[in-house]
Amino acid sequence: MTSLQDDTSAAPAAPFPTGFRWGAATAAYQIEGAAGEGGRGPSIWDTFCRTPGKVLNAETGDVAVDHYHRFPEDVALMSDLGLTAYRFSISWPRVQPSGAGTFNQDGLDFYRRLVDELLEAGIEPWPTLYHWDLPQPLEDKGGWPERETAHRFAEYAAHVHAALGDRVRNWMTVNEPWCAAFLGYASGDHAPGRRDASASLLAAHHLMLGHGLAVEAMRARYPDNSFGVAVNLYAVSPASDDPADRDAARRVDGLQNRLFLDPLLLGRYPEDVLADTARLGFTPSDADLTIINQPIDQLGINYYSRHTVAGTPGEAAQTASSPFSTHSPWPGSDHVRFVPAGRPVTGMGWEIDERGLYEVLTRLHREYPSVALYITENGAGYDETPDDNGTVQDLGRIAYLDAHLRACHDAIADGVPLRGYFTWSLLDNFEWAWGYSKRFGLVHVDYATQRRVPKDSARWYAGVIRQGGLPERG
Ligand code: FCB
Repeated sequence: MTSLQDDTSAAPAAPFPTGFRWGAATAAYQIEGAAGEGGRGPSIWDTFCRTPGKVLNAETGDVAVDHYHRFPEDVALMSDLGLTAYRFSISWPRVQPSGAGTFNQDGLDFYRRLVDELLEAGIEPWPTLYHWDLPQPLEDKGGWPERETAHRFAEYAAHVHAALGDRVRNWMTVNEPWCAAFLGYASGDHAPGRRDASASLLAAHHLMLGHGLAVEAMRARYPDNSFGVAVNLYAVSPASDDPADRDAARRVDGLQNRLFLDPLLLGRYPEDVLADTARLGFTPSDADLTIINQPIDQLGINYYSRHTVAGTPGEAAQTASSPFSTHSPWPGSDHVRFVPAGRPVTGMGWEIDERGLYEVLTRLHREYPSVALYITENGAGYDETPDDNGTVQDLGRIAYLDAHLRACHDAIADGVPLRGYFTWSLLDNFEWAWGYSKRFGLVHVDYATQRRVPKDSARWYAGVIRQGGLPERG
């Protein structure tokens, strides 16, 4: 028994259904390191991190938290937590360095070893095939705005799935197509750092097309596996009842939520969003929509906050996606301003609003065809300093997780088919444009020594998992 498992169990006041998945999530570029090892090729994030003024303190994922070498220790930490599932991502440039043609057996072997270690520990592996690390050679050929990239993605996905589908049941294709498309190609806050609103809509479309093609190919091989995609959804509110504010909320809900949910789950694009973006020349074909609308077995929801918006002429204001943000990630929406609603914020400056999660979940249940739902990310980032023992008393994170899990519990009680929860993140890690300045982990990592020390939230989460639910409201 480890220190994370010492507390006595009590019946939870808010129990979750039997079989509910209790997980944590990570992503390859944020944790693996070993950027030049095992035959891995360069990704757009390697290039972006080396571009001056893109990542805080010019930090990179070259070493990150060295998970590539330390994964047995990290799986042992997951065991101590009592996780029943672990969401990680597979690095495309590690498995197929040039993004086309030859596959790298060393890369595949790494993921096979990780998966076997997880299975040995009784933890269900939940790989995501694309968490933003596009092989650089594919970006050199035009990246996601090129249709060919969707086909290359499906080929890569089918290959990985053929290698691991005998032991991995649950597959997620793409993580947060909104971020990959709009932060990557519209605002330029993320790799590859382009600022082209028309290209960003094509990128969004091809990310979803790649998802559909990949699901088709993977399902043909192992029809019993479960397939899905992870989208980042927000609750969206107008700042007031003013029609201009309500229209701003419609626009932002359109670009943030419906632009992805409607094609994926309903097989059509929202008419109002197509009208808002008409001048950008985006004309998707019905044939593509049929592919995008593959039946999926599960939808992953990454939820962090709510957007409150006002309708104001002028440049769209920034959400905090980078310390260097200067351009809007909202193609076709220069009538919108993001306004603070006065709620407490995390260390990212993101407002804490667990009711928004309840709204997102119940809306999905109401407005979209029924599909099993999983929270594939939810968590809070802070600038944290450990005490002398290397631990962190992260009461803010505990309160955040507790509140959001209560919202999940309420949604389940109201009939929402929510089947699992993966907190972001297992470990402190490379937070994209914020470098190593923001920490989301349940486990603190000293980046100089790579020492891992569970935070108080790790102990708290282990208790929730052990009891199968939440204690009395504290
Ligand atoms: C999400 C990303 C994830 C992490 C969290 C904080 O948008 O998917 O990699 O950075 O935000």
